[in-house]
Amino acid sequence: MSHSIDLPQTANKQEFYQELASQLGGLLTGERDAIANAANTASLLYHTLPDVNWVGFYFLKSGELVLGPFHGKPACVRIAMGRGVCGTAAQARRAVVVPDVNAFPGHIACDTASRSELVVPLIAGGELMGVLDLDSPSHGRFDEDDRVGCENLAAIYLAASKEGA
Ligand code: SME
Repeated sequence: MSHSIDLPQTANKQEFYQELASQLGGLLTGERDAIANAANTASLLYHTLPDVNWVGFYFLKSGELVLGPFHGKPACVRIAMGRGVCGTAAQARRAVVVPDVNAFPGHIACDTASRSELVVPLIAGGELMGVLDLDSPSHGRFDEDDRVGCENLAAIYLAASKEGA
């Protein structure tokens, strides 16, 4: 079965994320596989969110973040807890918005085109599963609406998927 992607036509960013949340819920309905769902989530976000050059998952395995399904250029495979934007968000267990990655100490440059970044931790049943990472080639691309919207999308992904990617 193939899925079409509808670009949300909405008046503002909050409505955009509501529409995207409903598309994601539909896309993941009936499937519990965490890797398959991560792959489709990354694809949907990459193709619908404007001005992004990388969207994907890192999963916590044996104490470090390991690359999962993504869309964008090839990325670094392993990130230690506390390192880079991903490791910082994972360790702090909170979303991190970085308006200028070049000003973030320890930022890990996977795609040199990336200018700003949003990382949302994946927490299920109080346990850290990994992170959802979004990169943009534009400075200051992500704001609070993006943070809240992507936290909600991450929650939809987690609710739809079996634990243990
Ligand atoms: N920039 C991230 C690394 C992952 S890539 O952006 C895909 C970081 O600093 O953690």
